[in-house]
Amino acid sequence: MSSTPKTDALMRRGAAFLGTDHAILCGAMSWVSERNLVAAISNAGGFGVIACGAMTPELLDAEITATAALTGKPFGVNLITMHPRLFDLIQVCADHKVGHVVLAGGIPPKGSVEAIKAFGAKVIVFAPTLALAKKLFRSGADALVIEGSEAGGHIGPVSTSVLAQEFLPSLAEDHIVFVAGGIGRGEMIASYLEMGASGVQLGTRFACASESIAHPAFKAAFFRANARDAVASVQIDPRLPVIPVRALRNKGSDEFIAKQREVANLLDQGAVDMAAAQLEIEHFWAGALRRAVIDGDVEHGSLMAGQSVGMVTKEEPVATIMGELMSECEAALTRG
Ligand SMILES: Cc1cc2nc3c(=O)[nH]c(=O)nc-3n(C[C@H](O)[C@H](O)[C@H](O)COP(=O)(O)O)c2cc1C
Repeated sequence: MSSTPKTDALMRRGAAFLGTDHAILCGAMSWVSERNLVAAISNAGGFGVIACGAMTPELLDAEITATAALTGKPFGVNLITMHPRLFDLIQVCADHKVGHVVLAGGIPPKGSVEAIKAFGAKVIVFAPTLALAKKLFRSGADALVIEGSEAGGHIGPVSTSVLAQEFLPSLAEDHIVFVAGGIGRGEMIASYLEMGASGVQLGTRFACASESIAHPAFKAAFFRANARDAVASVQIDPRLPVIPVRALRNKGSDEFIAKQREVANLLDQGAVDMAAAQLEIEHFWAGALRRAVIDGDVEHGSLMAGQSVGMVTKEEPVATIMGELMSECEAALTRG
């Protein structure tokens, strides 16, 4: 008999959708969510998601093959909608019969949802507003992740607790909705499940698991950090569209502010046009996360982390973290 019957009952719909024991996704984290972490999450009964990021179709092909060699359980692939070769990446997912594709980073471009559904996969999307969520469901999306501003990585302006109140009462009965952002313990999972969520997505809590290939210096920075250290990047000029990123404050975040100032000055002087200015900003961040995660440059790299980072205090196997989350959730539901 299951040791977490109340949690399992509330997760049943989400787990059936994902094909897992637990309706807990580990959100894709560029450079972190590769074969080892993804397989470990799925093997522990959760749902691992490969972060495709800027990978070429050839690299994605190799990563899916390698992940499938490490787990026989279901896992998904997260594709960034503005990737110039999005449709080639979708084809790679089709070739591997990937069961779930997550479209992140913007509104899915025309034809992308259809292309994924055409090979029988489920499409998981993000939506910043309720109206857009409804529209995406009407256009064929199978599930939605609502992600609040407590999360690590690229963020929107609204907190998870407010998004949950806005979205779940109108969507959760008829649709699969996962809640993400700021979840560090099972008690929080219990409350979103009780509000009708089909499951949850965590990133920060899993980023430093034993199976994560993140550099020891990256992990050490997480273990040292408190919630208040995970800050949103600041946009200093309204003309430069900078999607805020939540990361641990370091020299890199200060340098980003200086860089924006420099590019804004170039714009004022007419030395660069808007397209070139935006490219400069993009280039600044390109590779910053890789520098931190892979090279361990925690001073100048990007230490993307959510506010739950204060609850990440030591390296533990994914199965231990998953077990803790499930039993905390069950304890909360049993008390209630
Ligand atoms: C280091 C890091 C990298 C991330 N990279 C991505 C990414 O490439 N694509 C994406 O959709 N989300 C990305 N995210 C967001 C996660 O998938 C997840 O939704 C988020 O971490 C959940 O919030 P939490 O950090 O509060 O648990 C990233 C998060 C972190 C911490």
